[in-house]
Amino acid sequence: MPQSLATVTYIVAAMLFVASLRGLSNQETARRGNFLGIVGMLLAVGVTLIALLQSPVTVKLTHLGVLGAATAVGCLIGSVLAARVAMTSMPELVAILHSFVGAAAVLVGVGTALEGRAHDVAHAIETYIGIVVGAITFTGSIVAFLKLRGTIGSRPLVIPGRHLINILLVSGCIALAVLGGGRKEAVPHLLGVIGLASVLGAHLVMAIGGGDMPVVVSLLNSYSGWAASAAGFMLGSDLLVIVGALVGSSGAILSFIMCKAMNRSIWNVVFAGFGDTPKAKAKGDEEQRPVQQTNVEETADLLLHAKSVIVVPGYGMAVAQAQHPVKEITSMLAGRGVQVRYAIHPVAGRLPGHMNVLLAEADVPYDIVREMEEINEDFEKTDVVVVIGANDIVNPSALEDESSPIWGMPVLEVWKAAKVVMLKRSMAAGYAGVENPLCFRENTLMLFGDAKQTVSKLLTAIAAKMT
Ligand code: TAP
Repeated sequence: MPQSLATVTYIVAAMLFVASLRGLSNQETARRGNFLGIVGMLLAVGVTLIALLQSPVTVKLTHLGVLGAATAVGCLIGSVLAARVAMTSMPELVAILHSFVGAAAVLVGVGTALEGRAHDVAHAIETYIGIVVGAITFTGSIVAFLKLRGTIGSRPLVIPGRHLINILLVSGCIALAVLGGGRKEAVPHLLGVIGLASVLGAHLVMAIGGGDMPVVVSLLNSYSGWAASAAGFMLGSDLLVIVGALVGSSGAILSFIMCKAMNRSIWNVVFAGFGDTPKAKAKGDEEQRPVQQTNVEETADLLLHAKSVIVVPGYGMAVAQAQHPVKEITSMLAGRGVQVRYAIHPVAGRLPGHMNVLLAEADVPYDIVREMEEINEDFEKTDVVVVIGANDIVNPSALEDESSPIWGMPVLEVWKAAKVVMLKRSMAAGYAGVENPLCFRENTLMLFGDAKQTVSKLLTAIAAKMT
């Protein structure tokens, strides 16, 4: 195959990746976007394979063997994981996948250095940048994965002088890289840089609290893109440079949008400045306070007598898979003339757009699904708000308690409604591990139980009362 054809195919693949990202930015075009991405990737891999087939025999056989084995193992593990993973565990999967990209960039860097291809200053710089960004992404993503899984606590690890430690680690990397240069023999320097950057990645993410993990995951997504781009420079692959840059910049934009939604500063996330030790009151004091409990019958009456109802779905609704009976209840209420809407917080659940996907799955019409900023002013004019398995996103401490770890995060101001019914199983805290004073408010009624079971019973009760 002529080189020009290969180049043109790589350009087409790159354009398909851009079109894919564009498609993925909207729920209605997401499938098409996904499909374009798959076609782009098939083209890229196909051309690489054909190019290998045309290379000298010895190179061809070794390369094809390695490529075939790696692709087979990767496809197998990838398909099993993708088929098995629950949607609520998607951020964990994404985090661990980022660590693979980081590891790949480190390995490409080591290979480049050991083969003596980092011979001049420019190549040595790109090699060390690839290794440092790759190692930070690798260990940072593993820590994020373990935090999201709950294997290690979600509380921030705040070591005194941590910023100084980070500066020393970065300085150590630069010093070793300068001393080692692009020499093939500089293996100890290379290992030193990998070690220091790995500690830096782990330390940066350990210092970030659980509530801020969504931003961290998208930031690591961005880092993994830059690591891939650096690997592209080292391998002389334009396509990898382009794809890496697309992932890197789209991850950075997403991180920025999420920071805005959570009222955080992106620089504080990058340098692990927020999520400092919570100054909040000790958990447990308020848990002893009484709450007002309600039951299915009372809640059914409340809903049937309301003129306006807002449903706030959260992580618990996703875990319980309660979206279908919830949709049936809201359709019944709407059929009786009740104004029903859904309020979506930008970080409800465990991944961006999580609630939108669940509601779309249950065929909830788009026009009654409102984003936080569109609906926050309407709560005070609402009779009943039903909070289903949500906690942090409706926590008034974010606006009222400066000592709260989630202080400053915009939340759905549900407490302004006449009545709030909170469906959850216990008094347990949400993802950020912060107690929710909403449970103790005068206008809040707690309806304890698994969301799916409670909502199903509620559906039966409402249907019975309507006949
Ligand atoms: P959370 O604050 O995590 O609260 C979920 C609540 O659901 C829990 O308090 C839990 O209480 C309840 N629950 C769990 N299983 C349930 C079940 N089967 N039936 C009924 N209730 C159940 O969720 P949220 O309000 O959606 O807030 C999301 C949080 O996750 C934020 O802190 C956000 O920063 C973080 N986060 C978001 C993302 C993205 S991008 N969306 C990614 C990672 C983390 P019980 O145990 O008492 O039932």
